[in-house]
Amino acid sequence: MSFEKDLIVEKVEEIYGSIIRKRKPVRDPAVAVKVLEKEYRLIVNERLVTVVFAAFMNGRPVLFEGPPGTGKTEIGEALLELWAGKNPFVLPCSENYDEYKVIGDFHPLMAMKKGFNEESFIPRPLLAALILDTGVLVDEIRRSSEEFQNMLLDIIDKRRIIVPELKKVFRAKGSGFQVILTSNPEDIAQNELSDAFLRRTTRVKFDYPPREIEMKIIRLRSNSTPHISSNMIDLMLDVINKLRKLGLSHKPGTAEAVAWSNMAQSIAKLKGNNVVTIEDIIEAAESILAKRSEDEDTVLSVIEEVFGVEIS
Ligand SMILES: Nc1ncnc2c1ncn2[C@@H]1O[C@H](COP(=O)(O)OP(=O)(O)OP(=O)(O)O)[C@@H](O)[C@H]1O
Ligand SMILES: [Mg+2]
Repeated sequence: MSFEKDLIVEKVEEIYGSIIRKRKPVRDPAVAVKVLEKEYRLIVNERLVTVVFAAFMNGRPVLFEGPPGTGKTEIGEALLELWAGKNPFVLPCSENYDEYKVIGDFHPLMAMKKGFNEESFIPRPLLAALILDTGVLVDEIRRSSEEFQNMLLDIIDKRRIIVPELKKVFRAKGSGFQVILTSNPEDIAQNELSDAFLRRTTRVKFDYPPREIEMKIIRLRSNSTPHISSNMIDLMLDVINKLRKLGLSHKPGTAEAVAWSNMAQSIAKLKGNNVVTIEDIIEAAESILAKRSEDEDTVLSVIEEVFGVEIS
């Protein structure tokens, strides 16, 4: 089937064309690592990029699995964008996700008037990504049903989408249509991923980064003023690492480490200071690190221990 003059293709271009930004594709892992740091402010190791790009070369979906706040979503989006040279679509999963929400559905009034045909069909992001030859980030795949997961795998495997109501098959034209799925296995009340699913995906495990990398990330993501000393960041990372080892209901990820130092800088700035003090850090800590009331006492006692202060 040719995409030229196809009404659905025209619709996709009309609806989604304006939100697609193009950039120069990057498919060399060593170059990608540099671009990720410079343009996306992401620290990613070359091995990870190599595995992901190798999976893409084989048309295999990649599963990013690991604890919250370790960069799965942002790194996934950035890698898809570098590979395709276009920004990807993001599908945030939920239990009631189905093909109508991701492939397309019919406008009810229009369908009543004109029937279930191309005119009343509304294309959705997965179909749009395939037609526009760009990537798809399926966020929190464990929150979707098994039925949805199987539908997705079938599409990725065969690189085509069937819309039975239209009696049409859309096929991927280039190599930009790739899929990264994210999942957090520690999250309770989530569906297990089936063996069939795991067999067909390439799994990449995420974890909290080594201290010097986390330090680098915080520096990369923070403002130059008010100044926050390396000594302070070191102590903050002591707190974070201790909290990760304790059984908190909400463990801090790198996302929280970054948010904490940024909050401390903003608090210092609002006070008119040009250097971040221990007080600023502690004030920021309570709102960033203790996300659940049952964690409050643990967070406070770890901060007191590491900073050698008493919090009233
Ligand atoms: N490798 C990294 N380089 C730069 N920033 C990082 C990195 N890892 C984590 N971060 C920080 O974490 C934030 C991104 O976290 P992201 O939401 O992508 O994590 P996630 O693993 O998808 O978390 P969740 O499981 O909660 O969805 C960034 O905005 C940044 O502050
Ligand atoms: Mg995420």
